[in-house]
Amino acid sequence: MKALKIKEVLEINTTNEFYTVQGWVRTFRANRFVALNDGSTIENLQCVIDFESIDESLLKQINTGAALRLKGTLVESQGGGQKVELQVKKVILLGASDPERYPIQPKKHSLEFLREKAHLRVRTSTFSAVMRVRSALSFAVHEFFQQEGFFHVHTPIVTGSDAEGAGEMFRVSTLDPKNPPLTKTGDIDYKSDFFGKETNLTVSGQLEAEAYAMGLGEVYTFGPTFRAENSNTTRHLAEFWMIEPEMAFYDLDDNMNLAEKFITTVLKKVLSRCEKDLAFLDERYTKEESSKPLIERSPMGLLEKINFVVRNEFKRVSYSEAYEILRNSKPNKKKKFQFPINEWGVDLQSEHERFLVEKHFNCPVILYDYPANIKAFYMRRNDDNKTVRAMDILFPGIGEIVGGSQREERLEVLEKRIKEMEIDKEELWWYLDLRRFGSVPHSGFGLGFERLVQFTTGMNNIRDVIPFPRTPQNAAF
Ligand code: 4AD
Ligand code: MG
Repeated sequence: MKALKIKEVLEINTTNEFYTVQGWVRTFRANRFVALNDGSTIENLQCVIDFESIDESLLKQINTGAALRLKGTLVESQGGGQKVELQVKKVILLGASDPERYPIQPKKHSLEFLREKAHLRVRTSTFSAVMRVRSALSFAVHEFFQQEGFFHVHTPIVTGSDAEGAGEMFRVSTLDPKNPPLTKTGDIDYKSDFFGKETNLTVSGQLEAEAYAMGLGEVYTFGPTFRAENSNTTRHLAEFWMIEPEMAFYDLDDNMNLAEKFITTVLKKVLSRCEKDLAFLDERYTKEESSKPLIERSPMGLLEKINFVVRNEFKRVSYSEAYEILRNSKPNKKKKFQFPINEWGVDLQSEHERFLVEKHFNCPVILYDYPANIKAFYMRRNDDNKTVRAMDILFPGIGEIVGGSQREERLEVLEKRIKEMEIDKEELWWYLDLRRFGSVPHSGFGLGFERLVQFTTGMNNIRDVIPFPRTPQNAAF
């Protein structure tokens, strides 16, 4: 008989039928009660082992972490706490687990401890809930764009260009680091490297997505991106997943409208599809928050926060307006900001973003028209000649979740900017071609997928929303 998933079993209303289930033991009580979980749902199935039908040696092997196949009759539960339970007639041990050595005991473990056990942490309620929500979000992302008529494009992972111009790239090379071939002038000779040139892991699929938008109209990428920035924060990973839509004929307003619709649609889908996981994470979040000092506590619960974002419009504010708000703000006047705001043109730090979102506006904020000097080369120059058509979306508790812009479609303006910023023009010949042949206004943005998962699950550290995080000094597993 085919085994059923525990999620399916728990949805069955007719009892006294015979079923097979399989999963891992979460707890084993009183030599009788197995809480079995197979990952299909946050809930465990209570399985009651009949003493008579099992020999002593097998009974000893039913330990936390062991894998079992159980066959038995589904009955209305005798005890409270669950609707149904399985009266087990046959126990098959698929994989034993040494109770002395299995690290995931049925008690609360710290997230730091579990990070060291990243290969096993998905067997906890918290991580399985987070990963199911992550999967649902990923599906909702594809669903949204496909329903909007966008085409999914797979942009390359290995590339020669630095899209963001920040120089934070991981080199891809097959040269022997101890003995690299050298040119006559003593530099490393990348001509003899695998690709015959310098290459790196991509920091963004945007530039290639732009090429495809110029033929397919509306496209999106959803792939891994890599940044060798030495940021040890709760919001940075060296390997993260980014969703990057790119649209021909869109101006910045169209871009902001799409981004807002995208985020709220995806959140709504997950609210209705991950009810149990989110209810669990909501409770967890409330507990975590209550252990923080009062001033650091979130004024809203997790579900409340998600619903708030879904129901309320994002506030749109230009950089210059935000600058004035920040300059005149209490923390700035009282010198409470680590980076004081005293000159138009400064880059906003996360303390400023959080002030705007969490203290001043109390809702998601879209900041637009940033100073050109703090943004990438490809953004469209405004007529004031000092700002560009950039937009960042800032979220409570997260800070920047989206970065995007209208792109510079005018060849001369783009060439001038590339020169000013001392970017290698040769590498971008094909990107400039897009402005030579049928150039049109176009826009796009990038949403950091893990930051969205963080927001939706209420997990404080980005390392806890990706299966195997890569951060400075850490690429275990
Ligand atoms: O603002 P960023 O750098 O924008 C781009 O890469 C553009 N090419 C996007 C585009 O217009 N197509 O990154 C976009 C988003 C950020 O807002 C943030 O959510 C996320 O990517 N992000 C990171 N997430 C985790 N770890 C990091 N180190 C991140 N760096 C950026
Ligand atoms: Mg950005």
